[in-house]
Amino acid sequence: MSSKYISTGWNLFKQTHKWSFAQKIIKDNCEICSSFRNRSINKINKISMKILVTGGAGFIGSNLCEHLLAHEYHVVCLDNFSTGKIENLLPLLNQYPQAFRLQVGDIRNLTDCKKAVEGVDYVFHEAALGSVPRSIKDPVLTNEVNISGFLNMLIAARDAGVKRFMYAASSSTYGDSKSLPKVEDVIGKPLSPYAVTKYVNELYADVFSRTYGMETIGLRYFNVFGRRQDPFGAYAAVIPLFVKKLMAHESPIINGDGEYSRDFTYIDNVIQMNMLAMVTTNPDAVNQVYNTAYGERTTLNQLTGYLKELLSEFDPAIANVEIQHGPNRLGDIPHSLASIDKARTLLGYVPEYNMYEGLKEAVRWYWNHI
Ligand SMILES: NC(=O)c1ccc[n+]([C@@H]2O[C@H](COP(=O)([O-])OP(=O)(O)OC[C@H]3O[C@@H](n4cnc5c(N)ncnc54)[C@H](O)[C@@H]3O)[C@@H](O)[C@H]2O)c1
Repeated sequence: MSSKYISTGWNLFKQTHKWSFAQKIIKDNCEICSSFRNRSINKINKISMKILVTGGAGFIGSNLCEHLLAHEYHVVCLDNFSTGKIENLLPLLNQYPQAFRLQVGDIRNLTDCKKAVEGVDYVFHEAALGSVPRSIKDPVLTNEVNISGFLNMLIAARDAGVKRFMYAASSSTYGDSKSLPKVEDVIGKPLSPYAVTKYVNELYADVFSRTYGMETIGLRYFNVFGRRQDPFGAYAAVIPLFVKKLMAHESPIINGDGEYSRDFTYIDNVIQMNMLAMVTTNPDAVNQVYNTAYGERTTLNQLTGYLKELLSEFDPAIANVEIQHGPNRLGDIPHSLASIDKARTLLGYVPEYNMYEGLKEAVRWYWNHI
């Protein structure tokens, strides 16, 4: 029995005084632990388990590849390197020459997708063109990759008879819904072409489960951050972008007054969700979408404060870098906060890193790597 989950349950009990809930978390997670343990005991099964990660050269995909390989799965990565980087994969290719295969290919090409899923047990579909501004600038390209590419992957996975198809959904699907916290079945109208594509993914996954009996699980990621998220390029996400600016003693520019808020989610919580989605044996947990978040909201003003504080431990001059403000950005939702109750109840999800703890890890990583 893992002491980590016992202490999580205990902390939960201290916070909520709901012993039955805390007990459930301990029990569920011990089942998960034992499921992981059984898998590692049964090495023959595990070694023959093959997982496809599309978009494996990107931020989230490369972290998933790394985690899976470290846990003795065989991994195939399908990527066209449009935003992903070979540097994210080179250490893995070197360390796991037998267990890791890279297929350079495009999800817009059905033949590439079919080749990638050959002999695969589970799929983590991460490949997509992210970024709301990119989708506003080029909706056709975003549509081709995120919708046609997604459909190709569903078809390839269906035809190969994969056991389950996990895919990267998005908090952008909540669109103009004002309700907080966001619960999975209350969504608004999409505010960008990107959000449309991510919602269409959910609709297609649902139809494939109903029509072809496929098992799918969608994970609506909320502003994920952590090691290997790209700080460069026109569409860099806010945390790596601001870290890079602050490290160069340049002023980060906040869009708007800085009071917009996000449920920033550390990468290791996202990995945990993906693994839980893959191993769950709870029939009610399958063919669902889940918020994948920590369940806490941080404003952009707070975020920049934390970044300055953490980075100035490495370089005290960063404490004096000024923050600037610009206009609000088209397609941005003002506030985003997830309810993680559904994931907690059906998957036994207990996020390990809150925003600040995750930020400490991320800042240390950037300091050493850029
Ligand atoms: N990072 C976040 O905060 C966040 C939030 C919500 C949803 N998501 C979703 O999570 C997934 C991963 O995001 P990320 O942040 O790691 O992005 P990323 O850009 O780092 O990774 C995406 C990967 O997909 C690859 N790719 C793009 N088009 C492709 C194509 N046509 N064929 C094959 N590969 C292709 C890219 O080269 C890249 O390696 C995406 O589906 C994204 O929409 C991310």
